[in-house]
Amino acid sequence: MGTQRRIWVCFLCVVSLFGIYLLCLCLRLDIKVYIHRVTQNQSISQRLNDSESLFSGSEPSTPLMGQSPTTTTVGVRPSTKPKPTEPSYIGDSYYSKESPIQNDCAQSIRSRVIQTEFGPRFLDWIPVLQWAKHATPDQYQRLSHYPGANGWGNFDFNTLLSTLPVLNTSANWHMFDDWDLRRNGSRCVRCAVVGNGGILKDSGKGQEIDQHDYVFRTNGAVIQGFEQDVGSRTSHYTFSTNTLRNSMRSYAGLGYRGPPRSNETRYIFLPDHDRDYLLMKAVATNTSVERGPEKSPKPPTYFGENVTVEKLKMYHPDFIRYVRNRFLRARAMQTRFKDIYRPSTGAIMLIAAVHTCDQVSAYGFMTPDYRNFSDHYYDQKYHPVGFFANHDLKMEMALWQQFHQAGLIKLYMRSSVTQNP
Ligand SMILES: *[C@@H]1O[C@H](CO)[C@@H](O)[C@H](O)[C@H]1NC(C)=O
Ligand SMILES: *[C@@H]1O[C@H](CO)[C@@H](O)[C@H](O)[C@H]1NC(C)=O
Ligand SMILES: *[C@@H]1O[C@H](CO)[C@@H](O)[C@H](O)[C@H]1NC(C)=O
Ligand SMILES: *[C@@H]1O[C@H](CO)[C@@H](O)[C@H](O)[C@H]1NC(C)=O
Ligand SMILES: *[C@@H]1O[C@H](CO)[C@@H](O)[C@H](O)[C@H]1NC(C)=O
Ligand SMILES: *[C@@H]1O[C@H](CO)[C@@H](O)[C@H](O)[C@H]1NC(C)=O
Ligand SMILES: *[C@@H]1O[C@H](CO)[C@@H](O)[C@H](O)[C@H]1NC(C)=O
Ligand SMILES: *[C@@H]1O[C@H](CO)[C@@H](O)[C@H](O)[C@H]1NC(C)=O
Repeated sequence: MGTQRRIWVCFLCVVSLFGIYLLCLCLRLDIKVYIHRVTQNQSISQRLNDSESLFSGSEPSTPLMGQSPTTTTVGVRPSTKPKPTEPSYIGDSYYSKESPIQNDCAQSIRSRVIQTEFGPRFLDWIPVLQWAKHATPDQYQRLSHYPGANGWGNFDFNTLLSTLPVLNTSANWHMFDDWDLRRNGSRCVRCAVVGNGGILKDSGKGQEIDQHDYVFRTNGAVIQGFEQDVGSRTSHYTFSTNTLRNSMRSYAGLGYRGPPRSNETRYIFLPDHDRDYLLMKAVATNTSVERGPEKSPKPPTYFGENVTVEKLKMYHPDFIRYVRNRFLRARAMQTRFKDIYRPSTGAIMLIAAVHTCDQVSAYGFMTPDYRNFSDHYYDQKYHPVGFFANHDLKMEMALWQQFHQAGLIKLYMRSSVTQNP
């Protein structure tokens, strides 16, 4: 026993390593081909075929409407096994809402979307808002798998139980809780969704924006002094506590004093942290914020002194994850930025409007000629749009073009080059 045997063992090792390498190569090839096929097909829903996908797929018109509203397990099973080709953090299955949006608008987005390329991705029963009834142990069990805005992974069940149940009025689960009061014979809910893009400067769009039934705004929306271009009304203001505080810090010098306040203004939290739940509860109950960065001895006054629980709403984490998975699945999700990436606040707002309004006009969102405009309409001098790893603004920009071309939204554009005829 000596050199010869050792050489033999060495040879075997090398051969088996090579074999393993070949095997890996084959497997990877397989997976790649599969992913490629799936991406080509667009129809994300059709490839889901395990228990997790029971309610995530292809039945847009008749979700589990017949279910008793008191059932807590409506529509979703906790994921048991990860899909072979999809990492488990994706979680492309969602809580099924009991009643789809009632509408008698013949040309609603929801009725038109089926004929567009977005049909297979669009779930018209996706829960856009969350409220008291979602705070159950099995929902917590399911959503605690997803961190950040995608679920409840960043806090414990007790925090959830002591906050979310305060959203217990019907206004908390209806996006347009006052529609009956203001519809004035109209059948279609017409929304203006206003981003803060520099394209709005000198646009003269203010009056047109204010003429919609509802006007959505977000984050550092400075209104005073810009009414001609951006309008003056705000019916729905979308923010996360983090982005709100940042806006108040960053744009104070430019005139941003905090969320718009008016009798018609509703505040929609985009929760990505327990701080959102804690602030929401404090505002709803007019009590101090118990802990966290917003901890305060007195009730918070970001939304004025007279705000009541009926004025508050909160996006459902399933909706955020759905938007990410099906509309803005950015390349960053395959990198180390996976956990910090999320669709921008403006993108969530616009896609929420697409899922709740009958008609959507979008203003102040990024267009291919974005270099010609400053970052914000209220910038005092030109400031280029900044790109960071936590959002994919170019992917969002492309999506707005696709929405516009599919006739789902009317996107305000300046340049005739990009305008759809
Ligand atoms: C997409 O999937 C559907 C159903 O599985 C199939 O009928 C269709 O041919 C596929 N389209 C492409 C482009 O592969
Ligand atoms: C999907 O699941 C059903 C029932 O579990 C099975 O009969 C069917 O063959 C599956 N389809 C695919 C494409 O895997
Ligand atoms: C709703 O929540 C409030 C606490 O914020 C509570 O006082 C009230 O009783 C609740 N109402 C219902 C119907 O559960
Ligand atoms: C309701 O509609 C009528 C007719 O279209 C219009 O004259 C009136 O001003 C509207 N009222 C409100 C409050 O918008
Ligand atoms: C505020 O809006 C409600 C309807 O949402 C209305 O009944 C009330 O009169 C308004 N209050 C004021 C002061 O405008
Ligand atoms: C808050 O409500 C009180 C009583 O209804 C009213 O006197 C006060 O003007 C309101 N404050 C604001 C800022 O609307
Ligand atoms: C909220 O509490 C503050 C003091 O803590 C009080 O001044 C204010 O009137 C309260 N607002 C409402 C709507 O009850
Ligand atoms: C952008 O502005 C430049 C001049 O500043 C102009 O030449 C160009 O046509 C503009 N591009 C678009 C797409 O409007």
